Amino acid sequence: MEPRGPPLHRPRTPPLAKKLFIKTYGCQMNVYDSERMTDLLAPIGYAVADRPEAADLVILNTCHIREKASEKVYSELGRLRRLKDQRRTKGGNLTLAVAGCVAQADGAEMRRRAPYVDIVMGPQAYHRLPEYVARAERAAAGPAGQAGVGILDTEFPVESKFDHLPAPTRQAAVSTFVSIQEGCDKFCTFCVVPYTRGAEFSRPLQQIVDETRRRVDNGAREVTLLGQNVNAYHGAALDGDANLAELIDALADIDGLARIRYTTSHPRDMDADLIAAHGSCAKLMPFLHLPVQSGSDRILAAMNRQHTAADYHRIVGALRDARPDLALSSDFIVGYPGETDADFEATLDLVRTTVFAQAYSFKYSARPGTPAAALQDQVPEAAKDERLQALQALLNEQQRAASQAIVGRTTEVLLERPGRHQGQLVGRTMWNQPVQANLPPSYQGSLAKLHIDACAANSLDASLPDTTDMRACA
Ligand code: 5AD
Ligand code: SF4
Repeated sequence: MEPRGPPLHRPRTPPLAKKLFIKTYGCQMNVYDSERMTDLLAPIGYAVADRPEAADLVILNTCHIREKASEKVYSELGRLRRLKDQRRTKGGNLTLAVAGCVAQADGAEMRRRAPYVDIVMGPQAYHRLPEYVARAERAAAGPAGQAGVGILDTEFPVESKFDHLPAPTRQAAVSTFVSIQEGCDKFCTFCVVPYTRGAEFSRPLQQIVDETRRRVDNGAREVTLLGQNVNAYHGAALDGDANLAELIDALADIDGLARIRYTTSHPRDMDADLIAAHGSCAKLMPFLHLPVQSGSDRILAAMNRQHTAADYHRIVGALRDARPDLALSSDFIVGYPGETDADFEATLDLVRTTVFAQAYSFKYSARPGTPAAALQDQVPEAAKDERLQALQALLNEQQRAASQAIVGRTTEVLLERPGRHQGQLVGRTMWNQPVQANLPPSYQGSLAKLHIDACAANSLDASLPDTTDMRACA
């Protein structure tokens, strides 16, 4: 006999999972923001897709720091528009959102240039993403023919987005990022950050400790503290404001957290407490990214950097006194307006005398709205090319020497994730050098003492030293 009425335990159809693809441009802060957007969208049914074609929602999390970075966004948008059109012709939908600094800087202009984009929102607004996505979905389900929903949010809200982000629940990467500070009040004359990210803001100390502890509970062993001006950190704490050294001290108490790093610093904010922490805190890694931009005092003054080459040398000297094996990294700009051959020589001199283990160097590119963009004496492109080549040759030589110096030694490596080849794990030394080694998967997430066998093109090859058994050392 046919049963009458519905069975008591009819298996429920799982809610239809929607798919999200985020493309992240630029800095590590954007990587952090993209992860937090993923956390925010999970409760409204979005799971991660590995490509835009498989997604219902695509977010471009953009970077505006140099010219090329923002151009890339518009060409990607052109491709996504075609995908959105194809979906429409098949009766479906693709929601398009642009977040980050290009969205902040271009705002209304982006709405004009790319009207098919549904959501344009700056880096301080993304905690409102679930509301905006829900609105875009409702509009797409309504009358056909909508070009884009037209949501624009580039305000700097008075409330902190950090107060609205959910606690991270997903499995954390072995090496994870936590934003602790945003924005910048320095106004270097070449830089858009003070305009796109706004004024300096520091998260309260306890909020950062709690988030980091969560990440450690979820599998992280290393944290990199992020901020545009991370060492200007001054977050609220129980007994007044805490500086970065005090925050590092508090984080070092978290059991299971093995390594702490921070980036990006400004030489002016490298205070005595922080320099001392490099000598006293064993969990703080002996690697520091400390942008100098130029070695010429004339150019440094024109850039409004508020430090000289001698200041930089003094700070590096104090850091190396505190931590003699400290490896340094930096950012350089060549071809700032008015830069002469003699100015550029001063940059090469600073590199020769400081010695960097790693570095990033860029040709100056005029950013709309910044003071330097309006200067008359722009350096010809050919001179910029020539200087960049010379600088990079010197920096590459120093980087190779730093990698070569560790070959033959046994050192601690944090094994972060599987490598590209079967049976391979990749990780980093204390000095932030990438390492690859053939090891069992059980080593992932552990600190292992490895013998550095050779220096390959972009990383070090390592293996277990002969004397070690097959256990990880931590
Ligand atoms: N042109 C070239 N490089 C720039 N940077 C920032 N603004 C510009 C610009 N307009 C570089 C600086 C900074 C890094 C993140 O990007 O070196 O430290
Ligand atoms: Fe830009 Fe200078 Fe601020 Fe760094 S310190 S974010 S280069 S304005």
